[in-house]
Amino acid sequence: MDLEIDGNAALVTASSSGLGRASAKALARDGVNVVLNGRDEERLADARAEVEAVAEGEVVVQPGDLTEADDIEAMVERTVDEFGGLDHLVTSAGGPPSGSFLDTDDEDWQQAYELLVMSVVRLAREAHPHLAAGEETGTIVNITSRSVKEAIDDLVLSNSVRMGVIGLEKTLSKEFAPDIRANAVLPGPHETSRIQDLVEAAVERGEYDSYEEGLDEWAGNPLERIGDPMELGNTVAFLSSPKSGFINGTAITIDGGTTGANL
Ligand SMILES: NC(=O)c1ccc[n+]([C@@H]2O[C@H](COP(=O)([O-])OP(=O)(O)OC[C@H]3O[C@@H](n4cnc5c(N)ncnc54)[C@H](OP(=O)(O)O)[C@@H]3O)[C@@H](O)[C@H]2O)c1
Repeated sequence: MDLEIDGNAALVTASSSGLGRASAKALARDGVNVVLNGRDEERLADARAEVEAVAEGEVVVQPGDLTEADDIEAMVERTVDEFGGLDHLVTSAGGPPSGSFLDTDDEDWQQAYELLVMSVVRLAREAHPHLAAGEETGTIVNITSRSVKEAIDDLVLSNSVRMGVIGLEKTLSKEFAPDIRANAVLPGPHETSRIQDLVEAAVERGEYDSYEEGLDEWAGNPLERIGDPMELGNTVAFLSSPKSGFINGTAITIDGGTTGANL
């Protein structure tokens, strides 16, 4: 299917790894010029090489920390300077640390809020005039977690703080319409370094005897496998394209059927 996004411009945050990288790859494969972001320059260079290998358009890297307002401003500015505009914003971020409520202090809560919520607030504010200025509808896709549908054990920060992103996404889908559509994707387990870190932490806490046992448990879903990050990336590209033009203000779970909620 031709997504009809060839030649457009996208900023994909936290895209030097994992789900952000897969989303950038899917957009770039369909001809979108993309700006990649992350903090570690070596990891960004690797990501650029991987994305360029499939890209039909240009791939640019913009190092920056999503908890720094100035860095966010620079990411949006760089996209517009390089490509003459900004059509698609895809927000990902690092994940908050795992842990129970009683293990989590005020600083943990504040850091999680800055990383997960304030980054999206600032990105949406900076990107808004550019997303609204294009001839076609601009798009925002927020990558969050299935934890907004069903609280996950030992992930109190993810379960709680990410709800703010969903409230924001829904609000933007109304306030920014009809110039811009806003949607979210809610990943379940996909094989990225984030999942490796969480499983390793659970092994250290003594919840599993081995990494393999932990991964099997995390991948427990009706499809009996862990997700390929490109399966999420392909959905992000679709949500960014006019082929999904009437989808606005929704949150799509991509978890192989892990989540028990009916809706
Ligand atoms: N993978 C899954 O199965 C899964 C499931 C549910 C939810 N999620 C959520 O989806 C999001 C992405 O996860 P992932 O699996 O793609 O993780 P990942 O593979 O660990 O990648 C995280 C990315 O975020 C970047 N990053 C972290 N902190 C940053 C900061 N302050 N500023 C800029 N970039 C930053 C990292 O690069 P640098 O470290 O170099 O900055 C990296 O590119 C996370 O919020 C995660 O919790 C993932």
